Amino acid sequence: MTTEYTAEQLRAAVADAVRAPSLHNTQPWRFRLVDGGIEVSVDPLRGLPATDPTGWGARIAAGAALFNLRLALAVAGTPATVRLRPYPADPDVVARLVPDVPRRPTPVEQSLHGAISHRFSNRAPFWPDPVPAEARWRLGEAARAEQCWLELVIGTSAVNAVAEVARSAHRVLERDPAYVAERAQWIRSEPAPDGVPAGAGGPQSEPQDLLPQRGFGGRNRAPGRDFEPEPLVAVLGSAGNTSADQILAGQALQRVLLTATDAGLSVSMLSQPIEVPAAREALRMSLGRFGTPQMVMRIGYGQPGRATPRRPVEEVLDLPVVPA
Ligand SMILES: Cc1cc2nc3c(=O)[nH]c(=O)nc-3n(C[C@H](O)[C@H](O)[C@H](O)COP(=O)(O)O)c2cc1C
Repeated sequence: MTTEYTAEQLRAAVADAVRAPSLHNTQPWRFRLVDGGIEVSVDPLRGLPATDPTGWGARIAAGAALFNLRLALAVAGTPATVRLRPYPADPDVVARLVPDVPRRPTPVEQSLHGAISHRFSNRAPFWPDPVPAEARWRLGEAARAEQCWLELVIGTSAVNAVAEVARSAHRVLERDPAYVAERAQWIRSEPAPDGVPAGAGGPQSEPQDLLPQRGFGGRNRAPGRDFEPEPLVAVLGSAGNTSADQILAGQALQRVLLTATDAGLSVSMLSQPIEVPAAREALRMSLGRFGTPQMVMRIGYGQPGRATPRRPVEEVLDLPVVPA
């Protein structure tokens, strides 16, 4: 049995890990080979002080990257045992992965891995077709498999209540000049390895929209191109809200997103009601549940789209120096 991961195994798996989503596509992660184990860290140099002062978003993104890394290693026949937050004195290290007993990948691992390169945030209006019960069930199972919950918000009044919380959080954030300036720094009108390409940012919001779109400088909509009237809104949550809970939630988020992609569904994320503490509490109350909401999602059948750019793998890797 392999007792150590190699630089080649790490490089191959990191190519999948970096496809994870991140706030404003900042890609706040690093991957290091230490004593034959792989360490995933948040990169403090790629934080968003105004949008993400507590580092919640960076830990969600690193958790999502960790999920892709786990899948890639499993599909290569070298699955990992994962320890979260292995060094209390170094909170930037979110996980350490060491080789587990080699085995063949499961069909679920294979299909989720196959979805990594097809997933993207789809901020455009979806078709009005409802999401079938079987797909809804799979999405909930995906969250549960990663120790989190997924609440599908059912019924017009429940969706309206969540939408109202999201819109008020959006208004609070839009009044903060530092938040607005930080977002503007990550909108890309020219090809770039990070940030949100203007073409991926979704259309400009309109007063009649139910859910608030984070503005990424998108185009105006053609008349009549409204958002779907009855979106499937889902809230992902975790038992608590420690750093470890947020890393778990990041893994669960990615599992839900890949499960959706595999089922032919599109997703866009809305985190304004998570980022404003009072809104997060109002969201939790409106769902009537214990635990902490970690992400709001709009799920449905969307138009085809394209994956957004990522920095090269070499830029996020730290390999041991081989003595000359
Ligand atoms: C923690 C977190 C919060 C996010 N919040 C939003 C959001 O509020 N609005 C939005 O349109 N996208 C949001 N996103 C999606 C990112 O902007 C997106 O993942 C990133 O631009 C990369 O694009 P991709 O998802 O197409 O790969 C969020 C992603 C993460 C991980």
